[in-house]
Amino acid sequence: GAPVEVDISKIEPGQLIRVNWRGKPVWILSRTSQVLDTLKTLDGKLRDPGSNESLQPDYAKNPSRSIKPEIFVAIGLCTHLGCSPTFRPEIAPHDLGESWRGGFFCPCHGSWFDLAGRVFQSVPAPTNLEIPPYRYVNDNLIIIG
Ligand code: FES
Repeated sequence: GAPVEVDISKIEPGQLIRVNWRGKPVWILSRTSQVLDTLKTLDGKLRDPGSNESLQPDYAKNPSRSIKPEIFVAIGLCTHLGCSPTFRPEIAPHDLGESWRGGFFCPCHGSWFDLAGRVFQSVPAPTNLEIPPYRYVNDNLIIIG
């Protein structure tokens, strides 16, 4: 499959853009500094907080799981059996209670992920969402693949 160019110049803070790459959904999410601050507070609730068992390029193996912390890029397929999780940015009363700071929910068998695609404990998905290869052409343009 060919690489896919994504213009991120118009992405709003908190917004998720979806594109298709090699027949897979890829998400580009703009995260606020507030969201980034909450990520580290979740480590104790996650199965693989350091992404040691999860798939990502070396340049995305860091606390934000991204090249630029504010822009998150991930493959939108659950690591359990491949359903596409739903975007659940709201911070609302929730099964996960105090631990929930927004993220993604897979409706097929109930897996929860944070806004870095990191899986919570005690759900079926074994690893964090996969990060595809990508790079910046400039501040406004990403190439996936
Ligand atoms: Fe997502 Fe099973 S496919 S929880």
